[in-house]
Amino acid sequence: MFITRRLPDPAMAILHEHGTVTVWDQIETPIPREALLRGIADVEGLLCLITDRIDAEVIAAAPRLRAVSIMAVGYDNIDRAALAARGITLTNTPDVLTETTADLAWALLLAAARRVVEGHTLIERGAWGPWHPMQMVGQDIYGRVLGVVGAGRIGQAVLRRGRGFGMRLLYHNRRPNPAIATELGAEYRSLNDLLAESDAVVVTAPLTAETRGMFGATQFALMKPTSIFVNVARGPLVREADLVAALRAGRPWAAGLDVFEHEPIGPDHPLLTLPNVVLTPHIGSASVATRVRMATLAAENLVAVLYGRPTPNVVA
Ligand code: GLV
Repeated sequence: MFITRRLPDPAMAILHEHGTVTVWDQIETPIPREALLRGIADVEGLLCLITDRIDAEVIAAAPRLRAVSIMAVGYDNIDRAALAARGITLTNTPDVLTETTADLAWALLLAAARRVVEGHTLIERGAWGPWHPMQMVGQDIYGRVLGVVGAGRIGQAVLRRGRGFGMRLLYHNRRPNPAIATELGAEYRSLNDLLAESDAVVVTAPLTAETRGMFGATQFALMKPTSIFVNVARGPLVREADLVAALRAGRPWAAGLDVFEHEPIGPDHPLLTLPNVVLTPHIGSASVATRVRMATLAAENLVAVLYGRPTPNVVA
């Protein structure tokens, strides 16, 4: 088994119990491409992260590979066709990160709507003057309309939280899902209608050929000048240059972003020239408990596939 980063102890223990483990023994630094290509030459199992590009070249470099386990719910960095052509099984770590990621979407939504980071920075700069009636006014979230684009597990958890905030709920998926209406009371909308009606738009759709670049100038122009845009899915769903221009023009009113077109972004990124954004460094699932659960599940998935045991987390 080859593991592309040192994982929390419970996960490493599971792997060591089940065979020979080679690990890129770093915590913060991704494995260089050359080391990955060398490392997987003789292994049957690979445990990887979203920072590893697992393409046809990598798969060809691992002639004995039978199982790939990603410690993530998203797997757009993996060439699934190349895996399928070799009959290699791919697993991911859904469910365990659902609520944690929905919490972060809400943190960004509330922070952007109520200018939390801007307020913090104002105090830090020593620029907090006397209270005045329209000082740092933001947008209400309670009682408004929440639209989720990509209402899978995480999107539904975002919608469920919206009920506690007295919101009217809308969602957009490729196809309507009647269970979402029954269980959450959310109404289906086309993307354009959802953008026009929502006060808060939260993106939780996976990155696919279909969703890449789905939010651009045309879509932002449909939003209300008071609405908040949140992306906790994948950066390339959004044309970032269009979003910068839209936020500069004030429609949407503000954005909360955890993901970016090219990660990591640096302090010179154009988004940081705007006052109406709140940015976090791809930490949707980053609670201590959830990251340990994800690592453990990724290890369990890998071992299950290699030893012919069932796992519910095979990516179809
Ligand atoms: C993180 O982005 C994940 O897909 O789990």
